[in-house]
Amino acid sequence: MVALSEATGTRRDFLYVATAAAGAVGVGAAVWPLVDQMNPSADVRALASIEVDVSGVEPGTQITVKWLGKPVFIRRRTEEEIEAARATAVSELPDQASENANAPAGSDASDENRTLDEAGEWLVMMGVCTHLGCVPLGDAGDFGGWFCPCHGSHYDTAGRIRKGPAPRNLPVPVASFVDDGVIRLG
Ligand code: FES
Repeated sequence: MVALSEATGTRRDFLYVATAAAGAVGVGAAVWPLVDQMNPSADVRALASIEVDVSGVEPGTQITVKWLGKPVFIRRRTEEEIEAARATAVSELPDQASENANAPAGSDASDENRTLDEAGEWLVMMGVCTHLGCVPLGDAGDFGGWFCPCHGSHYDTAGRIRKGPAPRNLPVPVASFVDDGVIRLG
């Protein structure tokens, strides 16, 4: 009986992932014909780098933009969120690497190495769970950050994995401020 129940669980997981993958292919199919109508150089430029107006993002909220076919979370954190993240010792983290494309190689996952600005107000991350690729929910989970309902991964207010099967922190892509209200991805 136990073996049967385990097999059922695995089968459900597999079906879920297969459905998610089919969904992703569907989105790709819908987007590519549009891109195809652009000339090649515009196409390449559009895919490599985008600029996002974040001037309307209030503290304690986030926006999700699509970049290179994937969701990117841009969150403007509150003082409380920053304090919670900075009060956490790196030694407590399952993944102690910054996972930040903008930080020096080998940098640790301290909060200062995760954010776009020194004050720690702006956090930019790929919105893709590092377990099997679901999109985590914001303002959720045991650590006040993000929660992936697919298999129960909890990320903190710096997007670092704290509990559940996900092996790594949500990755921070190449990003920079163009000016106070605009962030460039890529
Ligand atoms: S995809 Fe499995 S916990 Fe997120």
